[in-house]
Amino acid sequence: MRKVRSAVIGLGFIGIAHIEAIRRLGYVDVVALCTTSRSREKAEKLFVDSYYSDYKEMLNREELDFVHICTPNASHYPIASYALEKGVNVILEKPMTLTVEEGEKLAGTAEERGLVAAVNFHNRFYPATHHLREKIRKDDLGRIISVSGCYVQDWLLYRTDYSWRLLSDISGATRAVADIGSHWVDLAEYTTGLKVSEVMADFQTVYEKRKKPLGESQSFSRKKSETYEEISINTEDIASILFRFDNGATGCCFISQMFAGKKNRIQLMVGGTESSAEWNMENQEELILGFRDRGNEVLTKDARLMAGETEALIGYPAGHPEGFPDAFKQCFNQVYQRFLDPDSPVCYADFTDGLRGMRICEAIHNSAVEHRFVKVEDL
Ligand SMILES: NC(=O)c1ccc[n+]([C@@H]2O[C@H](COP(=O)([O-])OP(=O)(O)OC[C@H]3O[C@@H](n4cnc5c(N)ncnc54)[C@H](O)[C@@H]3O)[C@@H](O)[C@H]2O)c1
Repeated sequence: MRKVRSAVIGLGFIGIAHIEAIRRLGYVDVVALCTTSRSREKAEKLFVDSYYSDYKEMLNREELDFVHICTPNASHYPIASYALEKGVNVILEKPMTLTVEEGEKLAGTAEERGLVAAVNFHNRFYPATHHLREKIRKDDLGRIISVSGCYVQDWLLYRTDYSWRLLSDISGATRAVADIGSHWVDLAEYTTGLKVSEVMADFQTVYEKRKKPLGESQSFSRKKSETYEEISINTEDIASILFRFDNGATGCCFISQMFAGKKNRIQLMVGGTESSAEWNMENQEELILGFRDRGNEVLTKDARLMAGETEALIGYPAGHPEGFPDAFKQCFNQVYQRFLDPDSPVCYADFTDGLRGMRICEAIHNSAVEHRFVKVEDL
């Protein structure tokens, strides 16, 4: 049986994580990569045979089943459109696109062409979050009455911290919300099965001007520049958001990329009429179950205790931690399985889910601008 042929576009922080996760599957080859700078050097380092700096050239020349798009947000739409038009299946990084209109076009093209099209909302693939979804589906928590939490990081704390994410023409109208809030919203809807119906948001931009280092920079790089230029900032560092869900549940989420000491804390707290559950990415193997009349429980990853659909997402025995790279592997495995067998059960985010995320981010942005609750349009 021939292996699936894939290419990765954009070889910064997350593109390299994609290559590593793809290779762990065993039945998919990374046959080419494309990245705008030092593509040959990166291909040699990663042992990828073909390398390009122009994605069109790569898609015209290579025979590909899949492309992984790991470039800054503004290029998601043109690259994914080109790939889909060429009949290539797509795994796209989040947020799906820069605008809702672009997301609609991409979702339409993927549907018309009957191609597999996924957005990498990998938080769905931790055994604990997946198990939480199963518990909620079985009504273990009772009726869901609240969904709250946060997503906080500190990598943009200083005025000299820089990434393309600070530029709204590359990142989109929202920054912290699109970059990390989109993960929280997808996880909240995915685990609870509820839909966000209305949002009310308050944004804060801490520094109206920041210092951009001169020269090339990569996301989360430790390299510091000696020379800077001043740039104006028109996107939020911090967002506080109220949510109303379609079953009447309410909740709030605090999003910040300037919260010292919190590296990548995505926390989800779901309250039901019978019990509650809490998950935090920084202890991603644990699901905390809360009770009123008996002791709380901490359920750690264990295939024997997470029987059902979650079992398939567990690669190693209990006591052998699985985390961020494993969630990528499990997500990609399901996407590729769907390509090989259209009837295989999947729970990855497809382009319809990605588009929904874009609509919610847009509603959050409009709410912050208009200082009022904004309804999320149904798909
Ligand atoms: N799912 C996640 O948890 C997660 C985490 C980090 C980043 N992301 C997403 O991944 C994407 C990339 O983020 P990053 O942190 O890796 O950025 P990065 O700046 O580290 O890397 C981007 C890479 O894309 C290349 N590039 C830019 N434009 C290109 C083009 N037109 N053609 C080919 N290559 C191009 C750059 O040279 C660079 O190597 C973003 O959309 C981001 O939101 C997702």
